Amino acid sequence: MQLDDMLSAAPVVPVIVIEDLSNAVPLAQALVAGGLPMLEITLRTAVALDAVRAIAAEVPDAIVGVGTVTRAEHFAEAERAGAQFAFSPGLTRTVIDASRDSPLPFLPGVFTPSEALTARDEGFDRLKLFPAQQAGGIGMLKAFLSPIPELKFCPTGGVSPENFRDFLALPNVICVGGSWVAPADAVKAEDWSRITSLATEAAAARSGGQKA
Ligand code: 3PG
Repeated sequence: MQLDDMLSAAPVVPVIVIEDLSNAVPLAQALVAGGLPMLEITLRTAVALDAVRAIAAEVPDAIVGVGTVTRAEHFAEAERAGAQFAFSPGLTRTVIDASRDSPLPFLPGVFTPSEALTARDEGFDRLKLFPAQQAGGIGMLKAFLSPIPELKFCPTGGVSPENFRDFLALPNVICVGGSWVAPADAVKAEDWSRITSLATEAAAARSGGQKA
């Protein structure tokens, strides 16, 4: 699957931190059931790659990938685990070079206009704005539109149930990333129905200039 097809699969990409491996599959099932198939498993815990492996094997409708890619070896590790994409919070030489050796569709992170232009020079026109709210949020993305309209973003970090529709209404936003659809307390309580209803609400918003 191409990166654009993945980014267009749903308006919201859940940003997931798996602490307990046994939660990975039911959490993924709950999010997919709510209409959010694209799942970013952050490489921040010891079980993250095992979580990717379990979801890839047991939740066929999920499009599971990794986030928090900060080292070259993450690409091969993610591919071996069955990840379908890789997201990074940044855009280092090391990560760019490793991404070229990997078949995984890759979304690098940027925070400034210069980083966005550097990404474009490197051949990336789909970018994560991270951390989006701290980078200037909606105002920053609006300011990018006129000088660099060819770049499209998945803003992540500080995107919330209150503001995500406003992000999605921007023409240079394909989707948003956020952790609010998989809150730690709901995961800990194994409250999968709450997660499905959060996902359903998020999935009802569509990008493309329309407010939900
Ligand atoms: C993260 O790095 O954890 C993501 O950007 C999610 O941020 P959020 O918790 O503000 O959605």
